[in-house]
Amino acid sequence: MVSRKIKDISELPGVGKSTASKLVEAGYSTLEAIAVATPQELSTAVGIPLATAQRIIKAAREALDIRIKTALELKKERAVVKKITTGSKNLDALLGGGVETKTITEFFGEYGTGKTQICLQLSVNVQLPPEKGGLGGKAVYIDTEGTFRWERIESMARALGLDPDEVMSNIYYVRAVNSDHQMAVVDELFDLVPRENIKLVVVDSVTGHFRAEYIGREHLAQRQQKLNRHLHQLMRLAEIYNVAVVVTNQVMARPDVFYGDPTQAVGGHVLYHAPGVRVQLRKSRGNRRIARVVDAPHLPEGEAVFVITEEGIRDPSE
Ligand code: GTP
Ligand code: MG
Repeated sequence: MVSRKIKDISELPGVGKSTASKLVEAGYSTLEAIAVATPQELSTAVGIPLATAQRIIKAAREALDIRIKTALELKKERAVVKKITTGSKNLDALLGGGVETKTITEFFGEYGTGKTQICLQLSVNVQLPPEKGGLGGKAVYIDTEGTFRWERIESMARALGLDPDEVMSNIYYVRAVNSDHQMAVVDELFDLVPRENIKLVVVDSVTGHFRAEYIGREHLAQRQQKLNRHLHQLMRLAEIYNVAVVVTNQVMARPDVFYGDPTQAVGGHVLYHAPGVRVQLRKSRGNRRIARVVDAPHLPEGEAVFVITEEGIRDPSE
């Protein structure tokens, strides 16, 4: 085991400043991009000896943990995965017990479907002891839209019999002003998360800034590429530190208007290529909301109904 995992291409053995910038210029800006490259291709594109390219690729693969494992190793890796209750038993059951660590869970849906409410509730619930569905840990809340409400945290904490001030002091809040800032914040989390016993990282919303900054079809590919980099960054954070990463993604009611935009297509979630759990939210009668997990062969099919009450996310009473 390496003591500290490589998380940036500049940390790969044999990659100095100039090689690092050549790699980035040639489009190999992430460990993932390097890991899937062939030595031949990398050597030509970057102008480095074949042997060096081979070494760099091998190191990138190791850093990403791309190696052959036994089934027993897989079982042991899974055993460390923990779950955070959403506050609704129905929704927990749909998610196989709650929101999982070591993965990204995406909540997507129209405005007002409860994405932010779920994030706020999870930021409180993660602090509960394990016997009550929490992880006894702290939360980081990356707010890109300015919709975080500490007052809401206060009432959710009170409803659970927790000390509101203590709960609020265990939630680190960052207002990300643009997509670059959003990504820089996540970079910093690689230091903060292990230092502060953080078990949940929320990005609400993960897509907002990217959409606002890369407008029009001609920027779609560029935007998706940057967003993918952001998601990989979050995935690594989840895996390395065994934390739950929860992201939200607002999708429009009229996807036809946004034709050509993959994050706005019907059922359009952002976790296309990234591993993770995607949960679609819909409005129902009054404060009822319906959740459905998409593209998850390991989870039961079907839907879960929950309600948004004064106390927070709960099951419907009838
Ligand atoms: P966008 O961010 O606009 O895409 O929406 P969202 O999916 O994040 O919606 P959000 O989580 O903000 O849910 C909004 C719904 O939660 C509202 O329609 C309210 O019904 C409910 N809600 C929000 N705050 C409160 C509150 O303090 N008390 C109660 N009872 N319900 C609330
Ligand atoms: Mg919201």
